[in-house]
Amino acid sequence: MTTISPSILAADFMDLKSDVDALSGINDLWLHLDVMDGHFVPNMTFGIPIIKQLSNITSIPLDVHLMVTNPNFHIIELKDINIQNITFHLEAESNPLKLVELAKQFYPSVGISIKPGTSVSEIDIDLLSHVDLVLVMSVEPGFGGQKFMDSSLEKMKELTELRDLHSLDFKIQIDGGVNLETSKKAIAAGADNLVAGSYIFKNSKESYSEIINTLR
Ligand code: DX5
Ligand code: ZN
Repeated sequence: MTTISPSILAADFMDLKSDVDALSGINDLWLHLDVMDGHFVPNMTFGIPIIKQLSNITSIPLDVHLMVTNPNFHIIELKDINIQNITFHLEAESNPLKLVELAKQFYPSVGISIKPGTSVSEIDIDLLSHVDLVLVMSVEPGFGGQKFMDSSLEKMKELTELRDLHSLDFKIQIDGGVNLETSKKAIAAGADNLVAGSYIFKNSKESYSEIINTLR
């Protein structure tokens, strides 16, 4: 089944616990946490203290998406928190393989992400064979509520082919502009995991479960 990762960027920060509680009990769910530093991307969100507190109030597996210039810092500082997956950007790191190997010591799943301007061929096959997840950005990272870029579909198809060709087993995650229409295209192109923010959280809490199951 397709995993859905609701991005709390679109949740109610003044009542975050209620939004997170409303998601509990839904199957195949990760909680997507967008960490932005105001440097790798222009926007800023939240960091270590909020992630730590979230980990104490929910059993939903946490999925951390680092949109930061120095991912090494967060990978080290978050290591004692129960995080299922941590993803950093290929564009932010000169030695991504080394950082993946470091992160694998602390987290069950480690991902690499590419922005819309980065092509799949820029990810070394050696790196692909070491990651658990590849996050394809379908919007320019930094903000929720943007329009899905169809160019991401071709990238997911390429990744699916590479995975088959080299018998690899990473998951493919898509992030940005996911809604009922784009989720169908993303799943057809090979997405195993869909991040969705505004499409889920614009609804009432009572309907989160139904919306999430419709997406997959
Ligand atoms: C954008 C973030 C996304 C964002 C998605 O930089 O990585 O996770 O929250 O939001 P929607 O689903 O509203 O496009
Ligand atoms: Zn994200």
